[in-house]
This record gives sequence, C-alpha cells and structure tokens, in this order.
Amino acid sequence: SLAEAAQAVVAQFEYTDDDVNRGVKEFLRQMDEGLSKDGTSLSQIPTYVTAVPNGTEKGLYMAVDLGGTNFRVCSVKLNGDSTFNITSAKVPVPKELMIAETAEELFAFLALQIKAFLEKHHGDHFEQHIRRRMTMSAPNGFRDENVFRMGFTFSFPVQQMGINKGTLIRWTKGFDIPDAIGKDVCALLQTEIDKLHLPVRVAALVNDTVGTLMAHSYGAPESSGASLGAIFGTGTNGAYLEKLSNIKKTLVGEYDTSTGDMVVNTEWGSFDNQLNVLPVTPWDVALDQQSVNPGLQMYEKRVSGMFLGEILRLAVIDLMKNPDISFFRDDNSGTNDLRSTTDIAETSPIYKAWAVDSTILSIAAGDHTPGLVLLRKGLDDSLQIHAAAYEDARAFQAIAGAIGQRAARLAAVAIAAVVIQTGKLANPDEMIDVGVDGSLVEHYPYFRTMIQEALSKVEGIGSEGAKRIRIGLAEDGSGVGAALIALVAAGMEKHAK
Ligand code: BG6
Ligand code: GLC
Repeated sequence: SLAEAAQAVVAQFEYTDDDVNRGVKEFLRQMDEGLSKDGTSLSQIPTYVTAVPNGTEKGLYMAVDLGGTNFRVCSVKLNGDSTFNITSAKVPVPKELMIAETAEELFAFLALQIKAFLEKHHGDHFEQHIRRRMTMSAPNGFRDENVFRMGFTFSFPVQQMGINKGTLIRWTKGFDIPDAIGKDVCALLQTEIDKLHLPVRVAALVNDTVGTLMAHSYGAPESSGASLGAIFGTGTNGAYLEKLSNIKKTLVGEYDTSTGDMVVNTEWGSFDNQLNVLPVTPWDVALDQQSVNPGLQMYEKRVSGMFLGEILRLAVIDLMKNPDISFFRDDNSGTNDLRSTTDIAETSPIYKAWAVDSTILSIAAGDHTPGLVLLRKGLDDSLQIHAAAYEDARAFQAIAGAIGQRAARLAAVAIAAVVIQTGKLANPDEMIDVGVDGSLVEHYPYFRTMIQEALSKVEGIGSEGAKRIRIGLAEDGSGVGAALIALVAAGMEKHAK
C-alpha cells in the first residue's frame, strides 16, 4: 500500500541515537584534523578575531552581507549597553550575477547598492564627505575620520590572511564564478567602492556564522559570551571560540594574543565529504550528482534549506513512478470528501530540479489539522498539485517530516561536537549559549526541539547537559556582528599606527 511504501522511504531517513553518537565522534576527529593542517574537509578557518564582545562596544559602523537569501546593506549604531539601532536595506542577488563571467560584475553590483544606501540613509554625512574630498591623502580623498568602517559578511569559505583579507576557496550554495576563486574578496569589493568614490573602507571580513557568534555575545552579556554561532539557512555552518594553543596550523596574519583564543570558522558544510559516517540514501546520491559541486558540502546537502526540498522532490518522484502503488494519481482512494481528482500541472515544480524549496517541508511539519488542509493547500499553492487526496498528503507529510528530522538530528551532531570541544560542559553551573540564524531554524517548526532531543542522547552531554545548552535565535547576526568586528578591526588599525 501507499502507506507502507512511504514508510519504507521514511525508514531510509532514520538517523538513530547510535548514528548521532558515531557522528559526534567523527566530527570531533575531523575538527581536530582541521586545526592541524590545511586542505582537510572540515576547513577550521582561523578568523583572526580573538575575542567576543561584552555589550559595552559603541559607535556607528556599516555592514554588508552576501551569501544568504538576500544582499543586505546596513548601518549599525552600537549603543554600548547591549542594544543597537540598525538601518538596513536588502535586495535579492540577481541569479545571473551568481554565475557571472567575472567577479567584477557581482562586486560592482554590491558597490552600487552601498552607494544607494548611503545616499538614502546617510545623505548628510555623504554630502559632507563629498565636499571634504579635498584631503587627497586619505582613501578615496576622504579624511580618515570621515570614512565609514565596514564589516563585510561574505558567507563562503575563505582562506583568511588577516582581519580584512582573505581569498575565496570555493563557492557554495549555487554561486559559481570561477574567476573569483583565489582572489581577495575584500580587495574586490574595495576596488568597486573606490570606483564610485564612496567614503567606505572594508575593515573586516566576516563569515555569517562569526557575525552570529558576535551578535549573540553582544546581546547576551549575562553569560560569558556565546559558545557557538551557527547558521541553518540556505547553507549551514558554525563558528566557535577555540584556544590558540589548539590551532596547530600556521597563522599567517597579525592578531592579538592576549585572550589566548581565536574564533574559528569550521565550514562544517563540508564535514565528512568522504562519507565516513554521513547517512546516504539513493536521493542523497542523486542530488549530489546533479549539483554544481559533487563530492563537496556533503553535510550541508543533508541539512540545509537549499537542499531539503530537492531531496524531498527526488524521493516523491520515485514513489510516484512506482507502478505498484498509487501516489498523487486519480485512482487513489476517495475516502475524503475534499478530494475530487488529483491534478498536477505539467509546470509543477515537482518535475523540475531544484524547484521545490524547504517551505513545503515547514508547512508539512506544522500541519496538525485532521484533514491536513494546510498541507493540501500548500501542495496546491506552491507545487501545483491540485486536490491532493488525504492519503497522498499523509504520505508526503511522513516523508517530508523524516527528511526534516534527519536534518535536525544531523544539526545536533555538529552542535554537540562543538560544545564538547569548548570544554564548557565541565562546569555544571555554566549555561552554554548557542546563537542560531537562518531561514530553516527560523521557520521549520520544532527544529530546535528536535535538536535538543538529539543532544540529550549524546554521550558526554545527556539530558542534564542538554538542558544547559541554550539555543537562541541571534538577532540580526550579520549586521551587528559585522559591525562589531569592524569595531575590533578599527581598534587594531589604531594600534598598528
Ligand atoms: C541572515 C543573516 O539572517 O541569515 C545572514 O543576517 C545569513 O548573514 C542568513 O547568511 C542565513 O539564512 P538564509 O536562510 O538567508 O540563508
Ligand atoms: C555555506 C558557506 C558558509 C556559510 C554557510 C551559511 O556553507 O560555505 O561560509 O557560513 O553556507 O550561510
């Protein structure tokens, strides 16, 4: 029957407590490996950020953010009392720029957005600068004190050479501009900013996870700072504070050694590319093969929003093709009054690679109505599957739920490993703050609950430990976080003088 066939698919996505524990052990091993040498699958990139903020930081900074759903430009006023005011604008990145011929095309677009933002929100400041463009010794002809320091959140794997210098290792999340690989992305942006004569200096290069970590620490001064900043959105990744003595690979840039720590960007999207422990279903294999980066970001391809819809689509299509059962077909049972005939438009996203996004998984997970009316409406609205039978919707919900649950339990693997690595579990009185952001964790119902449940099953954490791991949504991660790092960087400039 359909229910049995769906159950067989569901079973393939099961990720047991034992699997979680095996995953955590391997994650810890790969973290350690990444700290000791370059070129490992878990990159463990040193960020040259050596402290997390405590809420007292003050000043006006700019921040831009590339790599999530939108490109964002903001100015952030840090008030010094754990609060801030943010002005921001966002635009989706045009698809053609994500796969442009040259990096210049993309970065010129970003600089134009910065210009428009300055004109709109900081017109006075901007005008004043234009008039003062006389002091030609300063960047772009602006006096140094009038130049906005900007944090650049660039959420892709970058080999960092210093706080505002880093070369692109590889694109992820569907971007593909080969020309940019190996180039310093801060320089690429500064060049385009300078062409427009804007009073802006790219002061800091920030991964979104690092921004999230910073922002969560600024906003949670009652704890000793966040232990982990993580993104579960289009992609997934995490950053945490590591002891400098554990970072065995060579650090090329300058940094402050006084705290004894440094933030590490794990790039955990590529955890276990070698598939030592990651679960593999036929649909994971198919998805990887049709992706722009086969063999890479293997963990991300099982966990993050950009991929869950596609895994689901591939599994559903397979079931629809099964001649022995009837799934989304007219001859299916008519036990529900609401059903007439299932009718799938030829243009339905269900027939098109990458066309199903994770929204439908969130709808499925959140539908507790007896007749699955919400999900059936969702199938109608977003997948053009009209008048789905209850049984079909039920099977769809079960499969979608299994994919979502596997993702959350895999997410717990990374969180558990990083929390264990920080050593903070040793102190039974300490709360361990994890700041998270991204469309998946924000919108997928019970994502955090499922993570918590899996954390309680991890050896060395248990239900007591899991209670101390406080997973909170980080507000405006990249805006405030990037501003905070720009502040740190501006401080370093002064020391260097
Ligand atoms: C946003 C952060 O809230 O979440 C970005 O400001 C981050 O820095 C993004 O990249 C990730 O979520 P998504 O779902 O947009 O990929
Ligand atoms: C991808 C990027 C990583 C980023 C994450 C979340 O994994 O490689 O840098 O942090 O997506 O946006």
